Amino acid sequence: MRFFAVTTLFFVFICSAQIVSAEGIAPIEKAALRAKYNIAQGKEIYERVCSNCHDSGVMDAPKFCDLTDWKPRMVHGMEHLVKHAVDGFNNMPAKGGMESLTVAESADAVAYMVDQCLIEPK
Ligand code: HEC
Repeated sequence: MRFFAVTTLFFVFICSAQIVSAEGIAPIEKAALRAKYNIAQGKEIYERVCSNCHDSGVMDAPKFCDLTDWKPRMVHGMEHLVKHAVDGFNNMPAKGGMESLTVAESADAVAYMVDQCLIEPK
């Protein structure tokens, strides 16, 4: 019995370790993000448009750097986040309500949010 208990615990441990890594934020690499997106431009757009909701969390917007709210969203990766930022998602208006933003500019703003807050420094 004892052997089974220990073995079961071991498997539970292994499985939960895998779940943690699957839900972690590892898939998004800071270096790759910086190579692909214009973070400086993203910062300017975030401050001008996105901060209106994401600084305060109004309408249940995930607050800037609130990892409890952001981590489960991050699991789906950058493409998914960018798609929601560009197309809109529930109370999140398409392109933050600023229709003149290009897809690339919206993506840069998402990348800025991710770059600043969502990736533990290595
Ligand atoms: C009018 C308020 C508002 C503005 C302005 C706004 N957002 Fe949001 N945003 C929201 C809300 C509310 C949610 C949560 C939607 C949900 O999960 O139901 C959200 C969610 C998001 C998400 C997470 C989507 C996901 O897949 O979970 C991203 C990324 C995002 N916003 C990016 C941006 C960017 C980039 C800008 C600026 C271009 C921006 N937002 C401007 C309200 C706003």
